[in-house]
Amino acid sequence: MAKLTAQQLHELGLNPKALPRHVAIIMDGNGRWARKNGALRSFGHRAGVDRLREIIRFSSDSGIEALTLYAFSTENWKRPDSELAVLFNLLVEYFTKEIDELDENNVRIRAIGEMAAFPERVRTAVGNAESRTQHNGGLKLNIALNYGARMEIVRAARRVSANAIESGKLPTQQDFENELYTHDLPEPDLLIRTSGEMRLSNFLLYQAAYAELYFIEVLWPDFTQTEYVKAIAEYQRRNRRFGGLE
Ligand code: IPE
Ligand code: IPE
Ligand code: MG
Repeated sequence: MAKLTAQQLHELGLNPKALPRHVAIIMDGNGRWARKNGALRSFGHRAGVDRLREIIRFSSDSGIEALTLYAFSTENWKRPDSELAVLFNLLVEYFTKEIDELDENNVRIRAIGEMAAFPERVRTAVGNAESRTQHNGGLKLNIALNYGARMEIVRAARRVSANAIESGKLPTQQDFENELYTHDLPEPDLLIRTSGEMRLSNFLLYQAAYAELYFIEVLWPDFTQTEYVKAIAEYQRRNRRFGGLE
């Protein structure tokens, strides 16, 4: 990985001064990619991991502050055990193999979601990656694992109510936001979903209130750096008003 200069970003068609601070991605379409290529779903997930590497690298190199990737939802437990095993093995492999490079590039890794539900080997690999990179000051890389926005919101509500009972004071919006997994991150500016589905599937429902949504037909294993740059360029053409006037 190497940091991109303002000039290099310009050459790619991006305005280096108006990059999204926080990009969130629903990485969808691995299974359909596999079917299209006459392969097993596991092959699609593996191809998805290769793309992940490229997208993380570009995020880090371009100086994006935070990247949140939806890797496993609270609803994905509905999948067959055989597919869950493939996903867990890939997670362990990814966090073990990539950690050196990510750490060298100053990436801070954090899992968001209820990790307790995962087998120990997954929790260990993710936990090691988190503790080893916790003081890094580069890209804030969040991997949503057993994440669901409804669960996150209810969890935050329970925490603020416990505090309210103790203090006798009603919680503010800020108190509530402090209990979300994303409490120390800027709000997502750009939310990308691949594979043509136009839904959020329980991802960042609270945080995405003013995110620019970008839906693209391309399947996740085909989401190259070029596609990512196109998404950011489109984001830069949007007119964000946040309810105000231009
Ligand atoms: C996204 O790809 C990866 C995960 C949800 C873990 P899918 O596995 O959902 O792929 P499709 O939607 O079946 O093509
Ligand atoms: C969303 O994709 C979850 C992840 C990408 C991890 P799904 O494939 O699970 O979503 P649905 O079922 O199409 O809504
Ligand atoms: Mg899917």
